[in-house]
Amino acid sequence: MENFIFRNPTKLIFGKGMIARLSKEIPEGRKIMVTFGGGSVKKNGVYDQVVEALRGRDYIEFWGIEPNPKVETLRKAIEICRREGVDFLLSVGGGSVLDGTKLIAAAVRYDGDAWDLVLDNSRIGEILPFGDVMTLPATASEMNRNAVISSIETKEKFGMKVDYPRFSILDPQTTFTLPVYQRAAGMADTFIHVMEQYMTVAGQSPLMDRWSEGILQTLVEIAPKVLESENDYDSMANYMMCATMGLNGFIAMGVTEDWATHQIGHELTAIHGLTHGHTLAIVFPGLLKVLREQKKGKILQYGERVWGITGGTEDERIDRTIDATEKFFRSLGLQTRLHEVGIGEDTILEIERRFNERGVAFGEGANVTGTVARKILEAVR
Ligand code: NZQ
Ligand code: ZN
Repeated sequence: MENFIFRNPTKLIFGKGMIARLSKEIPEGRKIMVTFGGGSVKKNGVYDQVVEALRGRDYIEFWGIEPNPKVETLRKAIEICRREGVDFLLSVGGGSVLDGTKLIAAAVRYDGDAWDLVLDNSRIGEILPFGDVMTLPATASEMNRNAVISSIETKEKFGMKVDYPRFSILDPQTTFTLPVYQRAAGMADTFIHVMEQYMTVAGQSPLMDRWSEGILQTLVEIAPKVLESENDYDSMANYMMCATMGLNGFIAMGVTEDWATHQIGHELTAIHGLTHGHTLAIVFPGLLKVLREQKKGKILQYGERVWGITGGTEDERIDRTIDATEKFFRSLGLQTRLHEVGIGEDTILEIERRFNERGVAFGEGANVTGTVARKILEAVR
């Protein structure tokens, strides 16, 4: 195990009816901005619950934070916060609303443009406190410091580190209205978050490995119910917890991380707008194919423990494991090849060019360069 420092200060408030606790969690006397997406919360009763819980409090609403939140939209909210003297933010919606809210929180007291902070996190100074009601299990933004922000102008998408929410309210009932595609993409995202922290070096920590495998096995087990039943509380509750535990730091203690699949996936979203979790379901099987030697020990362990693959030569087991992984994503209803989502060679070359231009090399081996990213994408063309 490698050295690590762990801290996660988010207060997690989980279960039926918990939105009613909202007012208790926000200190008195605050000027609150409540941030929303495109309106899903009006259809599932979440908005009404929030309004009820905030009765008597001083708040304004900001609507329209879109999926893959855009700095161009967030700048408007930042301006309003400055003008209105907002000093507490409450995000109500999915990961995009919360990520966008994190950037707003970091930018209100910053004397410059918000995009500077995305490109250079070290410029972040005072951050407004924020909490959230999370309605989409996927990102774990409800219990981590990350935000992923896009720019329409430059067609770029970058991750950044801001701060943890003060509190996060997760009521699985709010997820009952999620479309099947968002459930599938959310489960794929959760699955790959675990993989980014697990599918690296074998033998670092049996404890971290088993926690990761436990999340993967749970996802595989509950996926059919999450997709098919409209309001199965326990399946959605477990899905929500898989998502939160997948990227709140608990499975990353003392182990090497990868994140190359995410970096390539972000480019597919930046260029084509493809939903985040869906990009990962395409890229990850390609990454396993190209890096099969480097990740051999972990692929064999994962194949055996999650998919029960034990017979045959090591090469055969690796092939079957990669195949089982891709089949799982297809069982969620997600296409796993670039041509199926209308992405071709020009995008592959553009991503290679961007990585080379930025001089980046991702992954636990710091070897996923532009050239390797091209090979990964060509493997799933
Ligand atoms: O905008 P509204 O109308 O609210 O609709 C949303 C949106 O259209 C809808 N939705 C959310 N909850 C719903 C619902 N519809 C019905 N019922 C509900 N209960 O779902 C759509 C997608 O929402 P979005 O917030 O974009 O999805 P998600 O939570 O998957 O967030 C994706 C964003 O998070 C980033 C991604 O890159 C992407 O930009 N990520 C953030 C991470 C983090 N902060 O740690 C890590 C991830 O790896 C990821 O990169
Ligand atoms: Zn992700």
